[in-house]
Amino acid sequence: MQTQSLTIRRPDDWHLHLRDGDLLSAVAPYSARQFARAIIMPNLLPPVTTASAADAYRSRIRAAAGEGFEPLMTCYLTDQADPDELERGFREGIWVAAKLYPANATTNSAHGVTDIARLRPALERMQRIGMLLLVHGEVTDPEIDIFDREAVFIDRVLTGLLRDYPELKIVFEHITTADAAKFVAEGPSQLAATITPQHLHLNRNALFAGGIRPHAYCLPVVKREKHRLAVRAAAVSGSPKFFLGTDSAPHLRETKETGCGCAGIFNAPHALESYLTVFEEERALDRFEAFASEHGARFYGLPLNEGTITLEHSPTTVAEAVDAGASTLVPFHAGETLAWRMTS
Ligand code: DOR
Ligand code: ZN
Repeated sequence: MQTQSLTIRRPDDWHLHLRDGDLLSAVAPYSARQFARAIIMPNLLPPVTTASAADAYRSRIRAAAGEGFEPLMTCYLTDQADPDELERGFREGIWVAAKLYPANATTNSAHGVTDIARLRPALERMQRIGMLLLVHGEVTDPEIDIFDREAVFIDRVLTGLLRDYPELKIVFEHITTADAAKFVAEGPSQLAATITPQHLHLNRNALFAGGIRPHAYCLPVVKREKHRLAVRAAAVSGSPKFFLGTDSAPHLRETKETGCGCAGIFNAPHALESYLTVFEEERALDRFEAFASEHGARFYGLPLNEGTITLEHSPTTVAEAVDAGASTLVPFHAGETLAWRMTS
């Protein structure tokens, strides 16, 4: 018999871009409706590199999201990352992790790290104090094909990080390939990964379906079908190393639908319904709660949430666009109907 409703512990989003100002006000309520907590990405302009900037940003997020939503802040690592500042912000409870963007890998990453060797003092300190490292796992070498950048990152960077910092907890963010799924599944217990809804639903044909599709463009870019299937298998495997991280990354419509469109998919409005559709298709509804509400918190060493949410098997039609001040955002699954609906 078909499952009609699913009640699970309140979930968390372990990878989220909320932006700032008017855009923050427009998007934060969508995440707050579904998630108790979220790891907030620090790639603002300028990036969030100090504890005081993170603290102020956290206040703005709380004001935009309302009661009952806890932003978990991260520090943006640069070549100049200061171990003392990292430790101070961590001990004061301002941030829980630091994000490594290889320089110019993606949106607002110009200040990112040019050479991992320069991070040694920061990473040694993080390892010592138990602060997590979150990585955007793509090399930026222009010689490397964009579809291979994640797999090459494993060989050129991640393997060495795990070897050199065996006690450092690392989250390989938004994995997109069979290579990454296998590497994480078979890797040491210090390593875990987040998985987005778009990498479960889309393969690279989606970028060119009947014409160029800017709203299917994110980084890491969606890959071949065999990779999508491997990432789906990882998500529903029940392994505690894989957990929910939407990477919802809003960009105004006019900055996506243009000659050089921004990378990022705004999936916040129906993230849970989107994931749940996949778990149902994979006959793994019984594993959804652990993926959405348990594995991430355990890996971060944080308590599980109290309270529950309920999703019902009833159709949700996704809007073609949502308002964001003077402009609009085109959400993931725009105009489609999803089989599930979050009711409470
Ligand atoms: O598609 C993406 N968008 N990937 C990222 O890594 C960054 C994000 C953004 O901030 O827009
Ligand atoms: Zn991201």
